[in-house]
Amino acid sequence: MLKVKDKYFEDYILQTQIQKRVKEIAQQIDQEYKANNPLIIAVLNGAFRFVADLSSQINIDCEVAFVRLSSYQGTESSHAVKEVFGLPENLKGRKIILVEDIVDSGLTLKELLPKVKKAGAASVDICTLLLKPKAFQYDYEIKFVGFEIENDFVVGYGLDYDEAGRCLNAIYKLKSDTKNV
Ligand code: IMP
Repeated sequence: MLKVKDKYFEDYILQTQIQKRVKEIAQQIDQEYKANNPLIIAVLNGAFRFVADLSSQINIDCEVAFVRLSSYQGTESSHAVKEVFGLPENLKGRKIILVEDIVDSGLTLKELLPKVKKAGAASVDICTLLLKPKAFQYDYEIKFVGFEIENDFVVGYGLDYDEAGRCLNAIYKLKSDTKNV
């Protein structure tokens, strides 16, 4: 069991499982984009870890940029998406891959997607390490998914609990019986 701040977490997805899955997704991206020089736009802060490993496994030419927006505080989504910072200026005609650490309700990407499309992107695909299908509330396609998970709160590998736990190498889930510890 692992303690992060005031909460207890248990093992969930091992580092080896993550690395294997990241490699598989990178291979899919290699196949899918070949000579198209995709622009990967990762959503900070959570996706920093995933995008670093993913991009290191991709063998085609690609570019990486970051945007920042936040909709989450504590262990429950605040459903208050803020402004998008850092969207690259020239997206016209580019093939974009939006990279997230986790898609929960899907609100964050619902806000980001139209902004990227409006900027003239030729295509926009979504790649997320984790997806909570039972929480997802929208109908846009999520092309690359690392792992589908239950509606558990998780930390590690970029994901935080009030900014703690991001640097853990594996993913841990909140112990249900200690939610209110
Ligand atoms: P959405 O907008 O509801 O899809 O939430 C997406 C964002 O919420 C992610 O980028 C994370 O920052 C955060 N988030 C959602 N679920 C979790 C979780 O289980 N642990 C940590 N952060 C989460």
